[in-house]
Amino acid sequence: MAVSAALLCLAVLANPLQEQGQRVQPVASSAGMVVSQEALASGVGAAILRRGGNAIDAAVATAFALGVTLPQAGNLGGGGFLLFWHGPQRRAYALNFRERAPRRATAQMFLNGAGDVDRAKATRSLLSTAVPGSVAGLLAAQERFGRLSRQEVLTPAIELAERGFPVYPELAASLRQAAPQLQSDPTAKRLFFRIDSAPVTPGGRGSTGVRFYRVGEILRQPQLGATLRLISHQGAAGFYRGRLAQQLEALMAKGGGLIDRKDLAAYTAPWVEPVRGSFRGLTVLSMPPPSSGGVTLVQLLNLLEPFDLALAGLNSASTIHTMVEAMNLAYRDRNSELGDPDQMTIPVERLTSKAYAESLRPLIRSDRHTPSAQLAGLAPLPSNSTNTTHLSVADRQGSLVALTTTLNFAYGNGIAVPGAGFLLNNEMDDFTAKPGVANAYGLVQGERNAIAPGRRPLSSMAPTLVLNAEGSPWLATGSPGGSRIITTVLQVLLNRILHGLNLASAVLAPRVHSQLWPDQLSLEEGISPDTQRLLEARGHQLLRTAAMGSANSVELLPAGGSLGVADPRRPEGAAVPERP
Ligand code: GLY
Repeated sequence: MAVSAALLCLAVLANPLQEQGQRVQPVASSAGMVVSQEALASGVGAAILRRGGNAIDAAVATAFALGVTLPQAGNLGGGGFLLFWHGPQRRAYALNFRERAPRRATAQMFLNGAGDVDRAKATRSLLSTAVPGSVAGLLAAQERFGRLSRQEVLTPAIELAERGFPVYPELAASLRQAAPQLQSDPTAKRLFFRIDSAPVTPGGRGSTGVRFYRVGEILRQPQLGATLRLISHQGAAGFYRGRLAQQLEALMAKGGGLIDRKDLAAYTAPWVEPVRGSFRGLTVLSMPPPSSGGVTLVQLLNLLEPFDLALAGLNSASTIHTMVEAMNLAYRDRNSELGDPDQMTIPVERLTSKAYAESLRPLIRSDRHTPSAQLAGLAPLPSNSTNTTHLSVADRQGSLVALTTTLNFAYGNGIAVPGAGFLLNNEMDDFTAKPGVANAYGLVQGERNAIAPGRRPLSSMAPTLVLNAEGSPWLATGSPGGSRIITTVLQVLLNRILHGLNLASAVLAPRVHSQLWPDQLSLEEGISPDTQRLLEARGHQLLRTAAMGSANSVELLPAGGSLGVADPRRPEGAAVPERP
């Protein structure tokens, strides 16, 4: 199945006619494009482009709007990563605004007296919250590269919070699902559920009833609006110092959390060099540690580069088998080698080198799945959050943004800051609570990702940019999905680059996932029963799963304009063009 190096470049961007004949098509724009997981927020970004904002202005405005309209994942109380291709400068930047463990965090903080991991403490208590990074990160990007003022990019989010917006079906359903958690926190309960006062009874006693928002009802978040106003007026100081910092510290002190004003004031969101790889003549830029996203994605692309997956066919048994064997090898390294580069040396160059991929490739057998237990040095897996969110933006200057943010679980730990209107992340669960012990998702992580003061937990977020063979910006993508983020991004790229699918079809195609441990191959709906039987015959244990990821993606067109695709796996998403 391997092809010679001379043929590699010819396979890139297969037949354009094949692209045109496909059943689904991306949204087209004669100018820029914003794609996010919620339609109003995408509209905010597109309006910012129309006002003369650039891709960073639009991405930041969209992200703040998602903090209002997508409370399950958009956030002020979480963190994330950003990849930016600066069109006029023709260079890439990466921003690390991952949350950090507070100063008083310890490696054993989630262990009970018997030495076992207390799952509730690790995911649902105030101890599960790491110092939030989103506000610092979004403002750092906007201050450095934005063209509009901070106030201009924050105003739409403030208006959405204060005037409210109609609850859409996905949000209504998600709030219902999260009710047990959100209603156990009195502050979150008041924010996300209707508390109706019943008329005063003849006996003189009133009563209140808590009920779910109905689809179409207006959800107003005045406290969140006031918080956003403070950030708009004061910048990052409005969040990390002063009244909000005091409110957060008071909540932590009262509820057994660790974050204090010193932790908040010390938070930084550094600019870093993107991880760089190449695939069939294209350049791939993605996020370095403390996200595993970029390293593992590049390693996977290197491992798969010589295989003729196009000839083997999209989602054929042979293609899936080859991808899965590569995934298991890459995740083995992901779990044992990666951590926070501020606190340890990470072998990024070695892991992303073609030579290293060459040395591993013989471990991929074409006829048979290699059981995970046979791969030496294994140290199983990262968490599998599905409540991150990704947005992509293109602008008229040829700039691209790929931006992924998260609270970890849906609605984070479900605890809101009193008077401030936003939810807190439970990102501390992305650390290793105890080496060798499964996390909330039945997954286990390694020593290098142990909890330590000021450390950032390992992530799987993979905001990714692709440059064409001439080095010009082409595509931006990324996804939520915890450990499945990396394999989602991989498949979008392979579908687009190798299998001749247009951007919409590349995003839509059924996905598969494997991550070494558990030793099983997850399949979305749409992989044929024949293919599944062939995979089982090669020794794969199959697991049919619900939708994986939500790869909101954009592409710049060579003659100007752009394409966008909102992943239909999250139906509330939208690709909104700056101009038709
Ligand atoms: N919280 C999920 C991740 O960062 O991978």
